[in-house]
Amino acid sequence: MTDKVAKLTLGDQSYEFPVMSGSVGPDVIDIRSLYAKTGLFTYDPGFTSTAACDSAITYIDGDKGELLYRGYPIDQLAAESSYIEVCYLLLYGELPTKAQLAEFDTLVTRHTMVHEQMHYFYRGFRRDAHPMAIMTGVVGAMAAFYHDSTDISDPEQREIASIRMIAKMPTIAAMAYKYSVGQPFVYPRNGLDYASNFLHMCFSVPAEEYKINPTIARAMDLIFTLHADHEQNASTSTVRLSGSSDANPFACIAAGVACLWGPAHGGANEAALNMLRQIGSVDRIPEFIARAKDKNDPFRLMGFGHRVYKNYDPRAKVMQQTAKEVLDLLGVENNPTLQVAQELERIALEDPYFVDRKLYPNVDFYSGIILDAIGFPTSMFTVIFAMSRTVGWIAQWKEMIGDPQKKIGRPRQLYNGSPARDYKPITDR
Ligand code: SDX
Repeated sequence: MTDKVAKLTLGDQSYEFPVMSGSVGPDVIDIRSLYAKTGLFTYDPGFTSTAACDSAITYIDGDKGELLYRGYPIDQLAAESSYIEVCYLLLYGELPTKAQLAEFDTLVTRHTMVHEQMHYFYRGFRRDAHPMAIMTGVVGAMAAFYHDSTDISDPEQREIASIRMIAKMPTIAAMAYKYSVGQPFVYPRNGLDYASNFLHMCFSVPAEEYKINPTIARAMDLIFTLHADHEQNASTSTVRLSGSSDANPFACIAAGVACLWGPAHGGANEAALNMLRQIGSVDRIPEFIARAKDKNDPFRLMGFGHRVYKNYDPRAKVMQQTAKEVLDLLGVENNPTLQVAQELERIALEDPYFVDRKLYPNVDFYSGIILDAIGFPTSMFTVIFAMSRTVGWIAQWKEMIGDPQKKIGRPRQLYNGSPARDYKPITDR
């Protein structure tokens, strides 16, 4: 709290509301008493000016293009850390000691297998079902298989549910992929690190040994780190709102998966690669730039723009560099999709339409190029985003559940429907 106040004048009435400060970033006006004092609501569809909670997990400075996980800059974590260490940091607030990391890594590793009955759950889906549809269903079904960790009032059950989700999401994701390509499920291998295990479960087949390429595994781990958390984005807010009703954690994460699927959010990585392929060559870029600027055309540059970043998304910078490294390693010279992406970025960042609106590439612009080069179909891109973001959803959910001020989320509205009226019998209509 600060000693600052915000004054609101309505007619001849004047009201004061306290102003709260965080550790960094914008202050907030505490309007919790607004309706009681004035009988008015605030109006903010899309929550462009609304802080829905206070949190100590992730901070974004949209103007500077900065992203901090528990205070550590994303570019430093990308260069120095690992996803499993970032999971520990997001969950517990501090970087682990060597012993803490080893214990956490072992704990997660020991929970990577799923209940054997889940294999039969997948059989209910069509083989051509979108893997995100499968993820949404299977993650929600985890409550049916792991009912012993659904009591959110029990800290131990909250902890085991968190570990189970972080550990099992790669297995569930890989199973969704294997099911869609008609190959047998591959069990996790405890001797592999998180990213290598995921690659193993996705790409190994019983017929031959699958060799993990360490550079590809490193790129995969980096993608997981870059997507791990991102403050109060749409899917995280969905998880928090679901959790505010004391729903079990598996149901909350399933809600987050469903929300992330939208092309305006996590589905943009799949849409961005499809767009780059649709453009096909650099000489068609002006046509698509014109469409993106045309208000009568619903087309938008997928992977561009962001509600918070009004500067370059720091994750996109790391992603672009990783894309070049992976393509070089794979000997993919002059990848047309990367060439289109880089030329599209160059042209857009010189175009007043994009410059004036501060539209820059976001995390989804380059990620698909890497995932495509590694061998994933576009339908798996958002699945991988959901896997990575599970730790962020869990950390935010745990923070909310542990908040003594927790209340069920229940926004109000500006009603512009019909005032009260009497029922009219059908004979009189
Ligand atoms: C993610 O919130 C998060 O943190 C999300 C995320 C995370 O890690 O969780 O970062 C992950 O979802 C990244 C965003 C992925 N989505 C896309 O790439 C889809 C394309 N982008 C847009 O649809 C859009 O930029 C949003 C949805 C991301 C943000 O939209 P806003 O903040 O609501 O902005 P807006 O739609 O009001 O746009 C402002 C202006 C409009 O023009 P004007 O009305 O002022 O004339 O910018 C234009 C928009 O038409 N605009 C675009 C554009 N994005 C915005 N024009 C062309 N192409 C675009 N991509």
